[in-house]
Amino acid sequence: MENKIADLMSRIEAMKASNMQEIEDLRVKLLGKKGEVTALFDEFRTVPPESKRLFGQKLNALKNAAHSKLESLKESLGSLKQDGAGSGNDLTMPGTPFEAGTRHPISITRSEIISIFRKFGYDVMEGPEIEDDWHVFGALNFPPEHPARDMQDTFFVTTGENPILLRTHTSSVQVRAMETLPLPIRIVCPGRVFRNEAISARAHCIFHQVEGLYIDEGVSFADMKQAILLFAREMFGADAKIRMRPSYFPFTEPSAEVDVNCNICKGKGCNICKGTGWLEIMGCGMVDPNVLEASGIDSKKYSGFAFGMGVERIAMLKWQVKDLREYFENDLRFLHEFETVI
Ligand code: DAH
Repeated sequence: MENKIADLMSRIEAMKASNMQEIEDLRVKLLGKKGEVTALFDEFRTVPPESKRLFGQKLNALKNAAHSKLESLKESLGSLKQDGAGSGNDLTMPGTPFEAGTRHPISITRSEIISIFRKFGYDVMEGPEIEDDWHVFGALNFPPEHPARDMQDTFFVTTGENPILLRTHTSSVQVRAMETLPLPIRIVCPGRVFRNEAISARAHCIFHQVEGLYIDEGVSFADMKQAILLFAREMFGADAKIRMRPSYFPFTEPSAEVDVNCNICKGKGCNICKGTGWLEIMGCGMVDPNVLEASGIDSKKYSGFAFGMGVERIAMLKWQVKDLREYFENDLRFLHEFETVI
């Protein structure tokens, strides 16, 4: 018995464990009902009375050694855990919930516009936000005295001849497309634009536009009407109607503004459509021959149409957002309203 106690004592001293389960297994192996220490206590009953005192002390020392070994193994596991090395964690516990964000209504609308035009065979092109005067105004037939070229309307980075500025519309990307892409061209150009405006419910100094451009031989105003009508039906529902009002833009001739029928009052007149039954969604027109020629395209052979819409405006109409500032304030109560929109 003496040898058994000595042998077990040295094995206990050498015991190691790398997690809580291993410590528990050791406890059962030593001190459980069928454990080795327990077995020695059973054997102790058969020890002759004269040896009981000696073996009793040795057995108690063995039991204490087993307890303190288990304790010290637990402690060292605790400090390992602080180092991040061991894992005393309960891996079956549910994780800390991670709150997923939602897509921003402007991103949702922007991708919806793009995917509609992609279906019609349009490619996507982007251009720089910091542009020169030529791409934003000059090549688009803006006369030198046009008010958009004034500091009051445009953010200038540099002044002088062909100044650098923040683009005021994505029509600048049409110019880059006409300069670089082979014909025919069929593109939409999404992007941020900047205007020197006081921020209010209806105006912001930063907003988003999607520009469209189609140039080929024999493109007509009727083609444009059809493309815009199909877009409106995809965006606002199969029963959407459009109307075009004559308008003016330096880069298109003829030009028009496009309205879609108000889907809130169904044309009866409400405060959103200001009693008219119609909501303006974009500007459009046939690309002015001067604009084609400025980018080196033969205006006798080619014609095309262009259109431009504000993403905030489309989103406002779709979800009846009344204040433009909501898009930029990142108030979670507002953003979570779009959780269910894919
Ligand atoms: N660039 C115009 C704006 O910012 C929108 C626009 C109107 C774009 C007519 C066009 C167009 O391409 O043909 O207000």
